Amino acid sequence: PTVEPDSLRTPIVAVLGHVDHGKTTLLDTIRGSAVSEGEAGAITQHIGATAVPLETVSEMAGDLVDPTDFDLPGLLFIDTPGHHSFTTLRSRGGALADIAVVVVDVNDGFQPQTIEALEILERTGTPFVVAANKVDTTPGWNPKQGSPIQASYESQSEAARGRLDENLYEIIGDLSDEGFSADLYWRVQNFAKNVGVVPISAITSEGVPDLLAVLMGLSQRYMKEQMAVDTTGPGAGTVLEVKDERGFGATVDIVLYDGSVRAGDEIVVGGTDGPIVTEVRALLQPRPNAEIRVEKRFDKVEEVRAAAGIKVAAPDLDDAMAGAPIRVVRDRDQESVIEEVESE
Ligand code: GTP
Ligand code: MG
Repeated sequence: PTVEPDSLRTPIVAVLGHVDHGKTTLLDTIRGSAVSEGEAGAITQHIGATAVPLETVSEMAGDLVDPTDFDLPGLLFIDTPGHHSFTTLRSRGGALADIAVVVVDVNDGFQPQTIEALEILERTGTPFVVAANKVDTTPGWNPKQGSPIQASYESQSEAARGRLDENLYEIIGDLSDEGFSADLYWRVQNFAKNVGVVPISAITSEGVPDLLAVLMGLSQRYMKEQMAVDTTGPGAGTVLEVKDERGFGATVDIVLYDGSVRAGDEIVVGGTDGPIVTEVRALLQPRPNAEIRVEKRFDKVEEVRAAAGIKVAAPDLDDAMAGAPIRVVRDRDQESVIEEVESE
């Protein structure tokens, strides 16, 4: 069946990996923000969500992403914490994902939460690429701001290239030890069978064009059927956080992964004392490229379609629970929707 481009669901891309390996900095580079710098103790403690439009992706990726080749609206990035105590949040992020980026510090190599991330993705059957980050810290590295990685690699001294190669082959070896056949991404023919490794620097943006090109290619090539779904039906999502918002009281930040939600919709949200049945009073959408976790200016909208990060204002959300499901009732039987929320 042919699908209208604007009805394709935005793919959800989870970013996973060990603490401090550069997940938030990578997203900062893509969306042009400085979220990482504002974090307490420089560690991420919540799941984030950022809608990155196709335009931004293609601007950042330059010649590597021609926007006319794609009919996906963009990518919804999910940031996750790497600190060992946040296993639940990583699993939640992994469960939401259509595809994932596992960020590995090239010098630090595989660490416990790298392996944990791979286990989560294997369990959920989520295809992923590995971003071998911080290539700029390779001794003798001569940064080429924003460059695709091959051009940057070729401009390095033999010694610097040798050091990077060693680190990259160690990562490829570690992936193989975990049961994944992997190679540098430009040697991978079939991304459904082999894991591509993309050398990048979140600080100098080297390789970030390549990473975006691989993610867009993967989404378009292997996910298109999965994305060609009706995004006008009753929405389904997961609560990321419950937050007090001035003028609204308790609100929930959610990732909507299916269907739509509209102002006035009846919704069921998982709460500490069982499902909460309420009605959407306002839908507050972060601006494009804004991290919902830190966004202060929201646009009030009448409808949102999957996938999206959105703040939902409704009465009685004080006991809503992070990680709980949220469902739109609309033309369905309220009792069965309540049961669905209870059983999740
Ligand atoms: P958690 O969310 O706590 O798991 O950490 P994270 O993976 O989000 O790491 P974050 O982006 O906060 O980066 C950790 C530190 O590494 C920061 O000081 C960043 O500036 C630094 N960093 C990240 N990417 C790079 C890179 O490519 N090159 C260099 N030199 N430093 C980087
Ligand atoms: Mg982070």
